[in-house]
Amino acid sequence: MSHLAISELLKGNVAVDSQVTIKGWIRTRRDSKAGISFLAVHDGSCFDPIQAVVPNSLNNYDEVTSLTAGCSVSVTGVLVQSAGQGQSFEIQANSVTVLGWVENPDTYPMSAKRHSIEYLREHAHLRPRTNMIGAVTRVRNCLAQAIHRFYHEQGFYWISTPIITASDCEGAGEMFRVSTLDMQNLPMTDKGEIDYSEDFFGKEAFLTVSGQLNGETYASAMSKIYTFGPTFRAENSNTSRHLAEFWMVEPEVAFADLEDIAKLAENMLKYVFKAVLEERRDDMAFFAQRIEKTAISRLEEFVEKDFAQVDYTDAVEILKACGKKFEYAVEWGVDLQSEHERYLAEEHFKAPVVIKNYPRDIKAFYMRQNEDGKTVAAMDVVAPGIGEIIGGSQREERLDVLDARLDEMGLNKEDYSWYRDLRKYGSVPHSGFGLGFERLVAYVTGMGNVRDVIAFPRTKGSATY
Ligand code: 4AD
Repeated sequence: MSHLAISELLKGNVAVDSQVTIKGWIRTRRDSKAGISFLAVHDGSCFDPIQAVVPNSLNNYDEVTSLTAGCSVSVTGVLVQSAGQGQSFEIQANSVTVLGWVENPDTYPMSAKRHSIEYLREHAHLRPRTNMIGAVTRVRNCLAQAIHRFYHEQGFYWISTPIITASDCEGAGEMFRVSTLDMQNLPMTDKGEIDYSEDFFGKEAFLTVSGQLNGETYASAMSKIYTFGPTFRAENSNTSRHLAEFWMVEPEVAFADLEDIAKLAENMLKYVFKAVLEERRDDMAFFAQRIEKTAISRLEEFVEKDFAQVDYTDAVEILKACGKKFEYAVEWGVDLQSEHERYLAEEHFKAPVVIKNYPRDIKAFYMRQNEDGKTVAAMDVVAPGIGEIIGGSQREERLDVLDARLDEMGLNKEDYSWYRDLRKYGSVPHSGFGLGFERLVAYVTGMGNVRDVIAFPRTKGSATY
């Protein structure tokens, strides 16, 4: 490629007075009476556009003064230090080539004015052109890279677990079915049920809700692994925290207990927050200014502070005693609602909090039972401002206890024979968790809604593109 990324120029990595070419899209254009056109050109490589100063001596100056937001251009010129406020470098252009015009600028959906978040969601294919979604995209990328780096440095292997599966990891019945059967002409068994033996996989198959169970098989040989992939839930929750398709980071660690993975979760979050603070200062400054005042300061605080830890049982007592009126009553044995989690993180502990040892009856079959017979070694990490971002547990490694739990929950042991094998052959204590990646990005950017931090959000009733 003969052109340079704008970020390289603005970072000062290119010698002043050298001849450079950039390619990108017009954000704004301003013409002076003196016969100079100022183009703000962005290419997605950093938050700021670069200014190209175009003199009317250019033979296609007429074209330049017809440029509007969204037009694509190639600009060649001399890189100079900028006298303008807030700009470090600019290009004194000696050639501007228009690569693509915007037809009908008056109706261009991404005109330079501010658009509402809802409007941008309706134009998901064009919204990456905005300041805001550009910044989200770079921060999301930075977080993903930092996550991979963190695990790599800690000696974990990245495992790609399957997207199509026959098992419902969470047992919540929120799976999307994958089938090639003809819906108009379904094969039926003698009992009047759909005959999935005729389906593509010879049995019912679904999109995965979590890579955990497969992850456990590899942790039972490779010791430390993680998955980072898409997961799917046909959850009927129309909230700012739920997507039907979201990305999950799931470490699974052999020879580790609940305390070990609570610490791993804390270390991972601190690592990735530090990375964003160091690498995406430009985008974070935008979020702090436009979206959430504390976007930078709360991450800085987070990195310094130890997470709070509380047992579910004690958390219930705190909530009962706090005197706050909640929409949902708090009682031992009932899952905490997001209003409860937020109270604990935001008002009581004023820090991220790890809530541990939940009642067994509200948790999944694979969690390790505690000696009290009533609770399991589960944990959720709840962050101020967003609520639950991580859910995890120590896994039940004892075959007899696991089998009893499968029976109790009415799950078919045959379906889990491969999972049970791990408990038959060299079983070890092991633990893991799942981090909802969009919740993390929504928290870091302050965007608040997971639909605005994934490129093409999938929610109930919405799957365009
Ligand atoms: O608590 P969950 O359901 O845990 C699991 O799936 C475990 N199998 C993970 C493991 O131990 N390996 O989900 C984990 C996280 C939640 O804390 C939340 O951040 C996110 O996944 N999550 C969602 N994010 C967006 N939209 C949804 N519908 C989500 N459901 C869960």
